[in-house]
Amino acid sequence: MSFTIVNTDLLRGDNFIDGQWRASENGATFPVINPATASVYATVADSDAEDAKAAVDSASKAFEIWKHFPAKQRASILKRWNDLIMEHANDLGKIISSEQGKPLHEGVGEVAYAASYVEWFAEEATRANGEVIPAPVAGRRMMALKEPIGVVAAITPWNFPAAMIARKIAPALAAGCTVVCKPAAETPLTSLALVRLAELAGVPPGVLNIVVTSKSKPVADVWLEDPRVRKITFTGSTPVGKHLARESASTLKKLSLELGGNAPFIVFDDADLDAAVDGLMVAKFRNGGQTCVCPNRIYIQAGVYEEFIRLLTDRVAALVVGPASNPESQIGPMINTKAIDKIQSHVRDAVERGARVTTGGELVRVAGSNGNTFFAPTVLADVDHESDCFRDETFGPVAPIAKFDTEAEVLEWANASAYGLAAYFYTNDIRRVARVSEGLESGIVGINEGALAAEAAPFGGVKDSGYGREGSVHGLEEYMHIKYTCQGGL
Ligand code: SIN
Repeated sequence: MSFTIVNTDLLRGDNFIDGQWRASENGATFPVINPATASVYATVADSDAEDAKAAVDSASKAFEIWKHFPAKQRASILKRWNDLIMEHANDLGKIISSEQGKPLHEGVGEVAYAASYVEWFAEEATRANGEVIPAPVAGRRMMALKEPIGVVAAITPWNFPAAMIARKIAPALAAGCTVVCKPAAETPLTSLALVRLAELAGVPPGVLNIVVTSKSKPVADVWLEDPRVRKITFTGSTPVGKHLARESASTLKKLSLELGGNAPFIVFDDADLDAAVDGLMVAKFRNGGQTCVCPNRIYIQAGVYEEFIRLLTDRVAALVVGPASNPESQIGPMINTKAIDKIQSHVRDAVERGARVTTGGELVRVAGSNGNTFFAPTVLADVDHESDCFRDETFGPVAPIAKFDTEAEVLEWANASAYGLAAYFYTNDIRRVARVSEGLESGIVGINEGALAAEAAPFGGVKDSGYGREGSVHGLEEYMHIKYTCQGGL
């Protein structure tokens, strides 16, 4: 049930600080678990406050040098990093699948997705143009210059261990910032491999530092309190995002927070039903439903309700559940048994409130797995609006559905959530497209489309889903501030 990594140099367990691979100061380590088998995949450094501080010392020193690198030189280092990532896509995909669990084709696909951000920001690095402002009085030259913000702390999640780190580090380095980074304890190996490739690509010592730990708090506390850290970029839960916002207030750091979602997915009577089912399959079941942009509340208009459920149930029942090592697998394990507990509790609660399970609804036994982490892809029909699965992210392969009658009603339901990351709707009515896309309180809207993220697009939410954008030209601005200069006496 395990993969052979061709280039074992990518398998790193130590921190990378000031251009050196180092054990944690306290010498401690912790195991990384393969969620498919519940066995130990690797052992990595278990760092503490001292390592976190050493990383900031190094990044702060390196900032004075890196910020003066010509943009073109930063861009060519990033381009080399992109090339190396793509060259090692198979090994990186295997590492992702081993520690995170997703099917191998998704692991390798994530590597290409991650690399696309590196390539994009390599190109954007050379286009961080400022402005010459027409002066309102004679004898002055007024300009707005873009400058790197300083040391950036990047805190990344386990669900996309390559893509989430790439879309934070690449714009930071492109802008001229230096980085201290903490990957999720569940999936540090992918980040360490990416950092090794960044080192080989020529990222200078101190510019990119990574600190691995099983206990986030001591590391995050150092970064929150240190005034040299000027920006925190975080993807993860809303409670942790709010904590970071509160605790970084005393040093007024700039923040990008990509937090939880509770995406509505709406299908109107006039939609192309086959396209809507295709879109839902992609949006809901990618990474086994462990994405922040997953549809979590599916609303189907009354005229196509039963037909949609029938089409969807057939497709979901055919999904193959299994470990990444099986090339047929489409749904891998959940990250751990705690995730399974939440999924089971959401399904139980929905059923107690009257939902029908049209397929799935239970654990799946997979030969060779000791993990109890596989859950059958599930469709729940007639879900009550008060159900836990409609109010809280399930983060699993469960598609909960309710019926609606009118556009006004469904828009009200869609917006009746504290979250606002992604929303999807399917219709062939051109006027409705404008009305609904403008009416949805969401940072990202899919119109007749289920796959939304791309390096050229601004990814991010509103309300409790956070603020800041990743990807696109706006992704670079997150790592820069604007300096206004006014030259007089001309
Ligand atoms: C996420 O789940 O946070 C990211 C999903 C994506 O990039 O599509």
